[in-house]
Amino acid sequence: MRIILVGFGTVGQSLARIIQKDRERIVDEYGFEPQITTIVDSQGYCQDENGLDLTVALKVKEKLGTVAKYPGKGKQRPLASRIISNSEGEVVVESTPSNFKDGEPGLSNIKQALTTGKHVVTVNKGPLALAMPALLELADHKKLQLRFSGTVGGGTPFLSFASKCLPGEKILGAHGILNGTTNYILTRMENSSLSFRAALREAQMKGYAETDPANDVQGFDTAAKIVIIANCIIKRRLSLHDVEITGISKVTPQSIRIAKASGAKIKLVGRISKSKATVKPEEISTTDPVCVPDTLNALTFSTEHAGNVTLVGQGAGGEQTGSAILRDLVDIRGRYTI
Ligand SMILES: NC(=O)c1ccc[n+]([C@@H]2O[C@H](COP(=O)([O-])OP(=O)(O)OC[C@H]3O[C@@H](n4cnc5c(N)ncnc54)[C@H](OP(=O)(O)O)[C@@H]3O)[C@@H](O)[C@H]2O)c1
Repeated sequence: MRIILVGFGTVGQSLARIIQKDRERIVDEYGFEPQITTIVDSQGYCQDENGLDLTVALKVKEKLGTVAKYPGKGKQRPLASRIISNSEGEVVVESTPSNFKDGEPGLSNIKQALTTGKHVVTVNKGPLALAMPALLELADHKKLQLRFSGTVGGGTPFLSFASKCLPGEKILGAHGILNGTTNYILTRMENSSLSFRAALREAQMKGYAETDPANDVQGFDTAAKIVIIANCIIKRRLSLHDVEITGISKVTPQSIRIAKASGAKIKLVGRISKSKATVKPEEISTTDPVCVPDTLNALTFSTEHAGNVTLVGQGAGGEQTGSAILRDLVDIRGRYTI
């Protein structure tokens, strides 16, 4: 299986390390060899149709900042979407930054991959948040796979759990904590009576929040995940504009204390049902299994016959998300001989 890897940051590099380390095991257990033949970053790309040496690619990226400097095989620019259409390969892995305004560059990359006959594994939520129904339709029309396990829950398989472990069940809705950054901030505000600003600063210092934390604290990241769950599991064709979104910047230590007095905690909760999709700070009882601390994520699926079923785990992390990509690659290989 030849892979075009677009985006070589935390997640892309983790995938390369996993493939490097587990190559033999994957061949033995699943009967195929994942080979990264093209890697693209913001400055250029490197390419070898026989498979890149991942040790070299990782070293060049670390030391020189771009894979365009891969000896003899690297080039500056052009656009990722052009590289995708001109490259041979069966699968495009999209791991560029999530952009919730216009979905770019991921949206063009995914469309280009599907229109030129390549399966797609994306961890980038932007294109799905804005155009998931259309992208699924395009993939279906082209008889290709569009997979996105790592977009919700990082390595914790929330989506596969619902689609593979609850067959036959009617899933009526889902609710939970889907963003580790905001959960960490709210946990610190409660445990140490910090203001929102102070807790955010601490999260940034520990590397849990990005320098621009807007997508997390304003609720867009959680809302994107709700859109993905809606389309994939609840079978509702939503986009980000259909979700009612309130972030956590107005949560105060006082409101957290009031919730605590009644046996609850304030959490940023994403909810999806047949009729509504919301993201907002809510009081959640401490006995509710989704009431998890720190950077943990938790999601409850409400089912017609089995009742509520909850899954808890780390919702992000480069290695965890790389593992979700590998899951999708193995799944694609199971359906096609590539
Ligand atoms: N990190 C996590 O734990 C996690 C978990 C789940 C999902 N995700 C999602 O996975 C994606 C990647 O996350 P990350 O943490 O790996 O981000 P990151 O470290 O910022 O890496 C992003 C990569 O995309 C490249 N890039 C940016 N613009 C590009 C363009 N126009 N063309 C080609 N490449 C471009 C960057 O190039 P340079 O290296 O040259 O800057 C970088 O290699 C994001 O969408 C994120 O939301 C991340």
